[in-house]
Amino acid sequence: MTWPRRSACLAVVLAAAASAAPQPWLPLAADGVHDPQAPGLALLQQPAEALAPLPRDTAGNLVRWVQALESGAIVPRSALLESTPVRVLDQDLIVSRFGSMPAVRFPHRQHTLWLDCSNCHPLPFKEQAGANRLSMVAILNGEQCGLCHGAVAFPLTECNRCHSVSNEALKRGLVK
Ligand code: HEC
Ligand code: HEC
Ligand code: HEC
Repeated sequence: MTWPRRSACLAVVLAAAASAAPQPWLPLAADGVHDPQAPGLALLQQPAEALAPLPRDTAGNLVRWVQALESGAIVPRSALLESTPVRVLDQDLIVSRFGSMPAVRFPHRQHTLWLDCSNCHPLPFKEQAGANRLSMVAILNGEQCGLCHGAVAFPLTECNRCHSVSNEALKRGLVK
């Protein structure tokens, strides 16, 4: 892919600033991870080329990964070996202490589309609803949900993606 000319870049930057959108993907030579002098760099696909066609998110690496998977935009292999059992659990759990925030819905299905049970059970989570002392402080310290969210899954700034259930509706028994 050829990187757009400077004037086009500036237009993109201004448009991004105006809509308060996060930075689009940096070219590999400017990402602070790859050596810009490395002769092999030109062989690698640029993130903008790979990621731009996928459903867009407003945070993290700007891809709505669950949507990308469910829409068939990406079709990753479920396992390296055909003999590996693929386990998907279609069960949501509401985790709530009726605090200041809307309650948290933990969706098993969206997780087990990517991850085997053994990533979470028996560690870091006991396989029993309510048995884990889930806390935002621990999560912000990179434990519990924070082992992945903010590291390899959408970041912790997206409060309402986890805190997605109205306490009022929950108390009135309107939430399944
Ligand atoms: C990856 C999922 C996730 C994200 C993102 C997240 N939280 Fe939480 N949060 C939880 C879980 C799980 C708990 C523990 C359940 C509980 O206490 O209700 C919790 C608990 C809390 C609590 C204490 C309980 C309550 O409801 O008052 C507060 C306050 C809180 N979060 C605020 C936030 C804020 C503010 C953000 C965004 C900056 C945020 N959280 C983002 C999962 C998340
Ligand atoms: C990304 C992490 C994650 C994955 C992967 C995961 N779980 Fe869970 N599971 C949890 C959390 C979090 C809880 C609830 C903890 C709580 O409420 O304290 C839970 C709770 C459970 C419960 C208790 C439900 C209840 O009503 O008491 C069962 C059973 C369970 N998981 C089975 C599975 C199975 C089977 C798989 C694989 C198909 C799986 N889990 C994959 C995180 C995960
Ligand atoms: C082992 C890693 C891991 C742990 C632990 C984990 N998640 Fe996730 N979570 C993921 C991945 C991977 C995705 C899919 C990619 C994404 O949405 O960024 C995901 C997606 C989600 C989604 C769905 C987002 C959507 O777009 O539909 C929610 C909600 C969520 N996680 C909440 C939680 C909560 C709450 C906890 C803790 C109780 C938790 N997760 C623990 C890895 C994890």
